[in-house]
Amino acid sequence: MIYVKSEHEIELMRRAGKITAAARALAGEMVRPGVSTREIDRAVHDYIVSQGAVPSFLNYDGYPGSACISVNDEVIHGIPGKRKIREGDIVSVDVGAYIGGFHSDCAGTYAAGEISDEAKQLIQVTKQSFFEGIKFAKKGYRVSDISHAIQVYAESFGFSMVREFVGHGVGAKLHEEPEVPNYGKPGHGPRLIPGMTLAIEPMVNMGTAKIRVLSDGWTVKTLDGKMSAHYENTVLITHGEPEILTTVNGEC
Ligand code: MF3
Ligand code: CO
Repeated sequence: MIYVKSEHEIELMRRAGKITAAARALAGEMVRPGVSTREIDRAVHDYIVSQGAVPSFLNYDGYPGSACISVNDEVIHGIPGKRKIREGDIVSVDVGAYIGGFHSDCAGTYAAGEISDEAKQLIQVTKQSFFEGIKFAKKGYRVSDISHAIQVYAESFGFSMVREFVGHGVGAKLHEEPEVPNYGKPGHGPRLIPGMTLAIEPMVNMGTAKIRVLSDGWTVKTLDGKMSAHYENTVLITHGEPEILTTVNGEC
């Protein structure tokens, strides 16, 4: 069942969204050569807790961090650790915060120092694919209208879409119905209704779409070792334009 949030519940989700977006921004600012992924995770954890919230990912199915930090060919779910970020790396940071009974979830991909033009384009296209997708995050469209718009845009640059992991409803649970794939034909899936809250999260690979999961049980990497980028926001379906809940001063 897709849970449609009341106005009061939406207010609570806005609060969670602001904290989550601020944690992402803080992490993004920390991305530079020499910083370890553990340091970023620690800062995300401490910020979320300082706001009276709980990191949504910590202990989720036994996940050991507050952020997922995925470098270069890591697609998602990179476990923070002693790895130091190097010049030229691209670093995806995914964060979630739980407060007042509701979760919010967002991610972004950041450059460490000077990165290749190709990597810059990958980051930009991944972010823009989200914005192409939410042109259809409106009352009356269907979930796969979002999926299709994301795919068509990202693939037009020769990039490929990860299939095994998808966006999702978000609310009282981190993962709710419906699934929001980043690929597919338009006109399928549930119809969008005001009050639905979706985590829309394109994962875009420079080379093959194929991925593998490492033996740590979490880290997802591209099969060909080429780079991957991730961008995600928590989005509210309204009677008009979609409202992005994971913003700081309107920025995301
Ligand atoms: N942000 C991820 C998602 O969108 C969740 C990370 S899994 C966790 O589904 F275990 F780290 F929580
Ligand atoms: Co998510």
